[in-house]
Amino acid sequence: MKVTVQSKSGIQEFSAETSDNLLYAGLKEGLSLPYECATGTCGTCRARVMEGDVSLAWNEAPGLAYVKRSKNEVLLCQAHTAGDCTLRVPAKVERMADGAPRPENFSGRIENVRRLTHDVMDFEVALDRPMSFHAGQFAAVTCQEVTGARAYSMVNHEDAPDRLKFVVKRKPGGGFSDWLFDRQVDGKPLKLFGPLGRATFRPEENKDFVCIAGGSGIAGMVSIATHAARIGYFDQHKGHVFFGVRTMEDCFYAAEFAEIARRASGNLEVTIALSNEDPPQDIHPEYPEIRLAGGFVHEVCSRAMAGRFGEIVGFVAGPPPMVDGALRMLIMEARLPADCIRYDKFG
Ligand SMILES: Cc1cc2nc3c(=O)[nH]c(=O)nc-3n(C[C@H](O)[C@H](O)[C@H](O)COP(=O)(O)OP(=O)(O)OC[C@H]3O[C@@H](n4cnc5c(N)ncnc54)[C@H](O)[C@@H]3O)c2cc1C
Ligand code: FES
Repeated sequence: MKVTVQSKSGIQEFSAETSDNLLYAGLKEGLSLPYECATGTCGTCRARVMEGDVSLAWNEAPGLAYVKRSKNEVLLCQAHTAGDCTLRVPAKVERMADGAPRPENFSGRIENVRRLTHDVMDFEVALDRPMSFHAGQFAAVTCQEVTGARAYSMVNHEDAPDRLKFVVKRKPGGGFSDWLFDRQVDGKPLKLFGPLGRATFRPEENKDFVCIAGGSGIAGMVSIATHAARIGYFDQHKGHVFFGVRTMEDCFYAAEFAEIARRASGNLEVTIALSNEDPPQDIHPEYPEIRLAGGFVHEVCSRAMAGRFGEIVGFVAGPPPMVDGALRMLIMEARLPADCIRYDKFG
């Protein structure tokens, strides 16, 4: 099917299979369609159907709260068409530069499931073929037993790995996370669409960076710090990671960060912020490379970085209220320009 896109930067065309939603079909062909979550929640992929018959896979998608259904608006990440159609997108839509990793469909199998805390696990997915991605990106993941895709950020980073690592925090009553936590999922097949997301680490910017994460929002920050350490970025630049959890018992990936900090020769500072208890001491009892502090993670970051923000890139990920607090702080206190702030809201 031929899909025509009218946008603020002119007209573009792409072809779509019935199995792909219109967002994924357009991204596959290298169009810079607007999106954030890619899974029906945020409303960013809003478009108006000008011609054609477009149906929605998920009629209760929370992102539909942001569209005018009376004006034939849809969410591209939930939209399918059985024939040619014309869409109007309220944004600039351009062809992405050759060489930028384009998302594709992959399949894989879950391996090496580990429980990290009472409500956090990580696992690997052995892919059918390698996937190149930028540190900070995510994939839309589906399993046979649960309807709809879920976005999960890659924890690892290598050149074109054939395994992806994900960390998932259980959401009580959540379809996919209940499935992961309650079933024996080792060996289960998954479908993936990726890589997705623009909250990426771009070494060519040559700037120090600060990462502010809550809970499983730390996934992409591990990927960014891993990539930076591997390419020697910390020889010239500083990184600051602030990782918010409730209590010491909710803490994970301390060993991984300690290892990266050792490789960064003092240029990666990692602080775990405990929101629901006072830290037992200022330094992690097992990993002296890691500091401990009490308070909400964006407040801890604000205190620790006061007067030191300067020319820096800020990465934020986690639950929406935490992301909103961190963004306010980066804009109002740190005075970072919009193009130096990148975030993923996990909700
Ligand atoms: C960019 C991004 C990256 C993320 N990265 C991570 C991560 O690394 N780790 C992590 O733990 N969480 C991450 N999340 C959150 C994650 O995607 C899930 O929202 C979370 O795991 C809860 O999923 P659930 O199935 O347990 O809950 P549910 O409440 O069942 O589902 C949550 C989401 O799944 C989708 N969904 C639900 N039902 C349907 C349906 N019937 N049809 C279609 N779609 C449906 C919707 O997007 C919904 O908001 C990320 C979110 C985003 C947007
Ligand atoms: S990108 Fe479609 S609703 Fe978020």
